[in-house]
Amino acid sequence: MVKKIGILTSGGDCAGLNAVIRAVTLRATNEYGWKVYGLRDGTLGLMKNPIDVVELKPDFFDGNLMRMGGTFLGSNNKGNPFGTIEKDGKKIEVSELIINSFNKLELDALIGIGGDGSLKILQSLTKKGNIKFIGIPKTIDNDVKHNELSIGYDTAVDVATNALDMLQPTAASHRRAMILEVMGRDAGHIALNAGIAGGADVILIPEIPYSIKGIAHHIDQIRSTGRNHALIVVAEAVKKEDGKKATVKFVDGEVRLGGIGAYLGDEIYKLTDAETRVTVLGHVQRGAQPTHRDRLIASAFGVKAVDLIANGKYNRVVVWKDRSVQDVALDDIAGKSQTLSKTDPLIEVAKGLGIYIGEFN
Ligand code: F6P
Repeated sequence: MVKKIGILTSGGDCAGLNAVIRAVTLRATNEYGWKVYGLRDGTLGLMKNPIDVVELKPDFFDGNLMRMGGTFLGSNNKGNPFGTIEKDGKKIEVSELIINSFNKLELDALIGIGGDGSLKILQSLTKKGNIKFIGIPKTIDNDVKHNELSIGYDTAVDVATNALDMLQPTAASHRRAMILEVMGRDAGHIALNAGIAGGADVILIPEIPYSIKGIAHHIDQIRSTGRNHALIVVAEAVKKEDGKKATVKFVDGEVRLGGIGAYLGDEIYKLTDAETRVTVLGHVQRGAQPTHRDRLIASAFGVKAVDLIANGKYNRVVVWKDRSVQDVALDDIAGKSQTLSKTDPLIEVAKGLGIYIGEFN
């Protein structure tokens, strides 16, 4: 008999996380009479003494929480829960600490909201700890396998589209080629979708090779029609022409994606003499107010996740497929990302609109 469940958000935050926590809480308490505990900062809350956990009740969500970006539980996209830490002069296995805390809370099941990487970590942890687990996919990158829509993705595309809407007038006023660098890791979903919706002339995604000459030729064609400006969207993991990723070494020693926009700006200027400017959209794609679609997906995923537990179905991930919420084995999803296929229908749409989207030979 299930009486108490835990819920945590893991990995990079995104819009719609508060809405999914709300949906889980409402369904679990109102329909099944369970208690719901929010674990803070991903698995970090379970490493604290006392354990950082909060009981969630429906009235907690009476205010505007579901309308807000971020996750009020906090999240974490760093660290390895399978490493060791030093405590009181002793080496402790982090995973043991997390599992012990989970057991101390006497929770009957765990709902973990995360992307492919987080789901992989949670799969290993819950297997090791024999914890009953349900996953919910969230990531602006929208790269979770077997899933058409992840929580947070729609909002990120909306933000990027709005950015193009705002770049167009200033591009036209100054006769410039405006480059917008968007997130998405190795998947081009945000760039492709926002690029089409925002009227881009060039869309570069990691899945399709391009050439600077091809872009320059496209810009010359635009000029020949009498238009004096252009919009270019580039996904952060697009490589330079020499095949190297554009990265930045941060002061903490970590190397992160970044700089492809600036690279393109210089290269395009050299070949076309077009004045270029670069906007790196960054984390505003994650922190915005969730769109109606993200709230809907979050609500549908939350209800389904609780119902799976009620039906004794575990080690499943809820997914959005063919206009419905379905569930897929965790083993088929954890750690397996899904980038854009070269035959994606939207690539054909982009081509059909005359957008330069790369070299297809
Ligand atoms: O995976 C989500 C994501 O926003 C990526 O699109 C981006 O590359 C990365 O996280 C940024 O991570 P951080 O918040 O650590 O800078």
